[in-house]
Amino acid sequence: MTTTHPKAAFLGTGLLGFPMAERLLENGVPLAVWNRTAAKAAPLGERGARVAESAADAVRDAEVVILMLTDFPAIREVLLTQPVIGRLSGRVVVQMGTIAPDESREAAARVEEAGGAYLEAPVLGSIPQARAAELMVMAGGEPDLLDRVRPVLACFGPLRHIGPVGAAAALKLALNQLIATLATAYATGLAMVRARGVPVEHFIEIVRSSALHSPSFDRKLPRWLGRDYSDPNFPVKHLLKDVRLCRDTAAGGGLATEVLDGLARILERTIGLGCGEGDYSALAVGIEGRRGEDVSC
Ligand SMILES: NC(=O)c1ccc[n+]([C@@H]2O[C@H](COP(=O)([O-])OP(=O)(O)OC[C@H]3O[C@@H](n4cnc5c(N)ncnc54)[C@H](OP(=O)(O)O)[C@@H]3O)[C@@H](O)[C@H]2O)c1
Repeated sequence: MTTTHPKAAFLGTGLLGFPMAERLLENGVPLAVWNRTAAKAAPLGERGARVAESAADAVRDAEVVILMLTDFPAIREVLLTQPVIGRLSGRVVVQMGTIAPDESREAAARVEEAGGAYLEAPVLGSIPQARAAELMVMAGGEPDLLDRVRPVLACFGPLRHIGPVGAAAALKLALNQLIATLATAYATGLAMVRARGVPVEHFIEIVRSSALHSPSFDRKLPRWLGRDYSDPNFPVKHLLKDVRLCRDTAAGGGLATEVLDGLARILERTIGLGCGEGDYSALAVGIEGRRGEDVSC
């Protein structure tokens, strides 16, 4: 049985947006794409997308408008100002970037005022998972609305409904603080043994065979051992954005934020040392410094 997909617009074909848009095309979703830096969206034209000249042009005849933009200021600039906001009546906006729960609720209110419907659907996973249609998609919003766009969102990977708008955004931040804390803890351990002249194999092998292990450590290990943080899946600058959102959301819930404050300082130091565009595993540079010239990021 073939599914007839609604017409969709995809705004933001950056690192993660590009392979996500590819999955929609592969599944036969009629798609218009737009990216601020036009060259990043252009190759999708060869794969069947209509490459729009502006965000307003992209949403012109779309029933579903998918956003994969950096942050809430970008969403305000692209979606919540004229002429785009004026074209949202009757359309479903699906916001898939990582933003705060309050920001997502504000976006929902603005879209609904304009006569549109809003769903948040942040994702866990990165470029390899987007290429393999294995992103974990977490939806926040009305279940009926999710049912309307389910065939489109299912192109990205397994999908689950979390709760009302804000719930999936909060869950995504809870997951991203785990990404930051686990990577920081492991990179600190590696740096400690290296600084003391202990062979790193002992650290690596003991952690791997213990209950302390996470598969994410092995994925980043080649980067840490080679101090090569180039060609990022998820850059340091975006992890800092997320850690700040986590910190503010935790503080808003009356939770301790010391760990998140410390993570933010390490990431700020990493950016100060020239690795803001590097893969987030470059947070090791904020822990141990640049160690001469042997770092690529
Ligand atoms: N990469 C990952 O592994 C990953 C995983 C899960 C979630 N996320 C989240 O997904 C979102 C996108 O991440 P990404 O990795 O794809 O980042 P990215 O490569 O930096 O892409 C960001 C996108 O937002 C656009 N943008 C930013 N500011 C804009 C503005 N003021 N006006 C118009 N467009 C603007 C960029 O356009 P330009 O190309 O013109 O700069 C680009 O299309 C972020 O919220 C991120 O936290 C990423």
